[in-house]
Amino acid sequence: MKLEGKVAIVTGASANIGGTLARGLAREGAKVACNDINPETAQNTADMIVREGGEAMIIPGDVTDESFVKSAVQQVIDKWGHVDILVNNAVKFITKGILDMSTEEFNEQMQIITTGAFLFSKYTAQEMIKAGNGGAMVNILSTAAWQGQPGNIGYCTGKSAMINFTRSAAMEFAEHHIRVNAITPTATMPDDPAKRAMMDNYIASGKWKDQKFPLIMPFTEVAPMKEVPGPSDYVPTLILLVSEDGRMINGTNISVDAGATAKYWLWNPK
Ligand SMILES: NC(=O)c1ccc[n+]([C@@H]2O[C@H](COP(=O)([O-])OP(=O)(O)OC[C@H]3O[C@@H](n4cnc5c(N)ncnc54)[C@H](O)[C@@H]3O)[C@@H](O)[C@H]2O)c1
Repeated sequence: MKLEGKVAIVTGASANIGGTLARGLAREGAKVACNDINPETAQNTADMIVREGGEAMIIPGDVTDESFVKSAVQQVIDKWGHVDILVNNAVKFITKGILDMSTEEFNEQMQIITTGAFLFSKYTAQEMIKAGNGGAMVNILSTAAWQGQPGNIGYCTGKSAMINFTRSAAMEFAEHHIRVNAITPTATMPDDPAKRAMMDNYIASGKWKDQKFPLIMPFTEVAPMKEVPGPSDYVPTLILLVSEDGRMINGTNISVDAGATAKYWLWNPK
């Protein structure tokens, strides 16, 4: 129990990565406030945490709405008295390129990724500084933050902005012992066997070849380790970054991408 007595906020806590991270924090003893724009999504993750023996609350709402974020952090303080951990994870996938994405779509996606993280970091940091016990923030990036992916311009731009947001926030908060780091996940196979089978079937069907810029494809042919992570593969790194074990890790990124960003572009594993 590395996070006994700690309170965490996770944004975009869907059953996929955010919810898995939230459950991982709870398993280490943290009380977890689950955010999502869809209240049912946040509730499902909170229910799962409680079923697994943890403590959870929901703070449903839009991460880009400043008055909501302010009140959400206040709700956590009212219930549990402090906040120690923030995971900026919320995202909206809009897979379009410069030529087919509208300005509204671009701005919306950028705002969810960057403004959402800015607002939750601001109001959470204020409480951490008031409490004087330090804290830890983790921004969830993507391999698309580091590599040029066609047909995903808003996502790639927003995620790479979060690389230097992470460093800059880490420098600003260093004197308060609030550490800010990032995790880079990559194309992720769902842990849920039914969803995994759906993905496998889609790949086997060959329909991905009809897409101009496919996002899902036979990962085993291009991934260095011939497999890609599942959501639960990101949990140990999150626990390292937010626990005492990571007390000297600050302003950096840990890629949990099975080697994806290290790969030489011409090489594909045989
Ligand atoms: N799934 C992948 O293959 C993959 C790969 C690399 C990185 N990531 C990153 O991991 C994180 C989680 O991805 P996921 O696949 O679990 O996504 P997901 O779509 O399952 O979850 C994202 C959640 O964010 C919520 N959300 C959207 N807009 C919001 C808003 N304005 N306010 C609050 N919540 C909002 C959605 O309702 C959704 O439940 C994201 O940051 C994503 O970029 C995912």
